[in-house]
Amino acid sequence: MDFGIYIFRTLKWRFGYSLLLLLFLNHITSAQIRYSIPEEMKKGSLVGNVASDLGLNMQRLRAGRARIVTGENVQYTELKTDKGILAVKERIDRERLCGELTPCSFSFDVILENPMELHHVTVEVLDINDNSPSFHQHDMQLTIGESAAPGARFVLPTANDPDVGVNGLQDYNLSPNEHFVLKTLSNSEGRKYAEMVLEKPLDRERCPSISLKLIAVDGGAPQKSGTVNIDITVLDANDNSPVFNQSVYKATVMENAPRGTYIITVNATDADSGSNGLIYYSISKMQGKIDSIFEINKTTGVIYLVGQVDYETAKKFEIRIEATDQGALTDSSKVMVDVIDVNDNPPIINVMSFTSLVTEDSPPGTTIGIINVKDHDSGDNGRVNCKIEQNAPFKIKSNLRNYYTLVTDALLDRESISEYNITVVAIDSGFPSLSTKKTFHLKVSDVNDNAPVFPQAVYSATIAENNAPGVSLLTLRAQDPDEHQNARISYILEVNDIGGSPISEYVSVSAESGVIHALRSFDYEQIKQLPFVVKAQDGGSPPLSSNVTVKVVIQDQNDNPPQVLYPVQTGGSVVAEMVPPSADVGYLVTKVVAVDVDSGQNAWLSYKLHKATDRALFEVGLQNGEIRTVRQVSDKDAVKQRLTVIVEDNGQPSRSATVVVNVAVADSFPEVLSGLTDFAQDKEYNDNLTFYLVLALAVVSFLFITCLVVIISVKIYRWRQSRVLYHSNLPVIPYYPPRYSDTLGTGTLPHVYNYEVCRTTDSRKSDCKFGRAASQNVLIMDPSSTGTMQRIQSEKTCFCRQSTGWRLPSTQ
Ligand SMILES: *[C@@H]1O[C@H](CO)[C@@H](O)[C@H](O)[C@H]1NC(C)=O
Ligand SMILES: *[C@@H]1O[C@H](CO)[C@@H](O)[C@H](O)[C@H]1NC(C)=O
Ligand SMILES: *[C@@H]1O[C@H](CO)[C@@H](O)[C@H](O)[C@H]1NC(C)=O
Ligand SMILES: *[C@@H]1O[C@H](CO)[C@@H](O)[C@H](O)[C@H]1NC(C)=O
Ligand SMILES: *[C@@H]1O[C@H](CO)[C@@H](O)[C@H](O)[C@H]1NC(C)=O
Repeated sequence: MDFGIYIFRTLKWRFGYSLLLLLFLNHITSAQIRYSIPEEMKKGSLVGNVASDLGLNMQRLRAGRARIVTGENVQYTELKTDKGILAVKERIDRERLCGELTPCSFSFDVILENPMELHHVTVEVLDINDNSPSFHQHDMQLTIGESAAPGARFVLPTANDPDVGVNGLQDYNLSPNEHFVLKTLSNSEGRKYAEMVLEKPLDRERCPSISLKLIAVDGGAPQKSGTVNIDITVLDANDNSPVFNQSVYKATVMENAPRGTYIITVNATDADSGSNGLIYYSISKMQGKIDSIFEINKTTGVIYLVGQVDYETAKKFEIRIEATDQGALTDSSKVMVDVIDVNDNPPIINVMSFTSLVTEDSPPGTTIGIINVKDHDSGDNGRVNCKIEQNAPFKIKSNLRNYYTLVTDALLDRESISEYNITVVAIDSGFPSLSTKKTFHLKVSDVNDNAPVFPQAVYSATIAENNAPGVSLLTLRAQDPDEHQNARISYILEVNDIGGSPISEYVSVSAESGVIHALRSFDYEQIKQLPFVVKAQDGGSPPLSSNVTVKVVIQDQNDNPPQVLYPVQTGGSVVAEMVPPSADVGYLVTKVVAVDVDSGQNAWLSYKLHKATDRALFEVGLQNGEIRTVRQVSDKDAVKQRLTVIVEDNGQPSRSATVVVNVAVADSFPEVLSGLTDFAQDKEYNDNLTFYLVLALAVVSFLFITCLVVIISVKIYRWRQSRVLYHSNLPVIPYYPPRYSDTLGTGTLPHVYNYEVCRTTDSRKSDCKFGRAASQNVLIMDPSSTGTMQRIQSEKTCFCRQSTGWRLPSTQ
């Protein structure tokens, strides 16, 4: 070492002290020693044997008061004069002493006095590996986007090792991993640092964070290292699409389900995190009106109903759904929604054909109508059964599916039920079931299956004799339960004979009204009753009829006075009853016998004594007409007794006849004769008798001549007619009706009746008109039944109303 430099250095450190040394510089002997020791030696460790190295013995050291002079505050070594060695006094840390400077040494001087000796000692401190590489921090946070491309570099922390040389930082190591490799580089100062290079792309979804260790090693022996943890957080990138967890979802919904009904929840997941994994669900817009029926909750994926589902319109829906994340990546799936049928449609009844009118004689099984039923529902909800609601004589048959025939099930009777309201009910089999009703109005048309019926088996009417012709006797009314023409009843008189004459001469029946009129005045004494049969016939085809017996009972009128049969009233001869003078009280003289052709009360006769020669002698039995003596006949009584007896009937008013009874009070016939002259005294009586006899004779003679003339005239007339009128064999003679008189002369019919009778062959269609006006009549003598006379009107025209118009009636 150059001395000048040494001084300079010394001066520099301890200027004042060094200056002192300079004063003695020429007198100082000096030597230089150099030692090398490793750092961190224990205190007291030997550095070097100074005494021997300087060539000094112990005495000299002691005598020269050898000591160390140093400019430093810290004196690392001490001089042990007794042994002449240098020993470590303080810990020597190379890194503290020199830092990174190499080589590293410190120096001091050993001074000896008497003589002054100055020896320079340099101690070189050798490095040992006493420091590990170290990082400033223990942990390092690193965030790397997963989209980082391979080759991306990431600077890592640099480690520090105060040791130098081979003991300093030598290399870096990275814990094994699949993504990164480490590159160790040196900067311009030669410091080593490391970079991490991405070799294989990151996937946050697989491995969202990575923990690595970076190890720095030095080259010492033993080797030392330092570690830093590198925590890598992989940042998400939207690299994943949402994925539905099912490719097809299946759901069902009841038709007519209300708004808001839950259908199904779909679920899509997105492997990305954060906003990249936020999924929004939607219904694909491309499907017509499905999005007006279903809606999906954007966030939860719940599909619910917003519209109407009708099984009959759509049985299933296919909803295409989409899940979209924030980066517009999508997935789609579909939801198959099956609509479950609900029994919401009632059956529909269609009438294919229906006859609203059926004849009552239609046989059971006659088809009335064909109906078709439909139900828009399906399955049980659409299976329809038809039935008839009422208990009506109809049934419904199904021959084809959904086609029904309505047929009669029994014979119909219009007369009991003329119309039916047939209610057909169609019920489906759903639960609850729905039904539809349809009412068919069926009318039963009439068939003439009922004959007219008279309510009474026998009709009777009573009429007093001597009735006015044309008087109505009774009205018949038959009933026919059929209707219209089938119930239109005509009354027809059945032909029979009453006492030789056809009944049509006695009565007429009005065909339409059933009123029975008397055609003539009846005489009880001739006909007591008129039994006849009236037929009621309906207008059906063929017509049905029934008979009823009508009995017209002619009631007696007191139109005949009693007739005395005994004693016979002769004009001239005098017949007397004889009473012996000795006759007792109650002696039956005679009996007045009278009859009355009337009947009943009218013929109930009572006898009364009207006039008597001696009223005290006889009495007449009121009931029996017996004339008896009431007292003893005596000789004083006149021989000739004349009694007038009145015979009265009990009619109202009563009619009577008188009879004169001559009684002779005598024992024998001669006695009577003697008194006969007395009887002749009854001049008035004889005159009358004579007059009647003469009148009778005259009448008889006149009748005889008249008859003779008539017979002759008829003969002549016939002879002439047969030549002139071939076609007519009826003699027509003007005829003046005779006064209808009583042959007995006592009771006469007080009126003369003229009447017109119009008769047509069709009695139903004729109206009979009875007139009072007399007119010229024609007597028609029917040669086949002589003595029977029919009076008919000839000149006066009688118009009869007919359905076809007016026409002249044909005469019979
Ligand atoms: C979807 O599925 C995932 C995983 O199975 C689950 O965690 C999530 O809750 C589901 N989302 C819905 C809306 O159900
Ligand atoms: C899909 O997600 C829905 C809703 O969370 C769930 O109900 C269904 O079971 C899931 N399907 C599968 C196959 O996991
Ligand atoms: C979706 O569902 C959520 C959670 O239930 C609810 O809060 C939200 O209102 C719903 N969105 C719609 C549009 O209904
Ligand atoms: C049938 O129905 C009609 C109309 O409702 C009614 O006028 C008629 O009286 C009914 N007939 C029967 C027999 O019930
Ligand atoms: C009615 O009486 C007529 C004659 O008396 C007879 O021919 C006919 O058969 C009877 N009709 C009935 C329905 O009894």
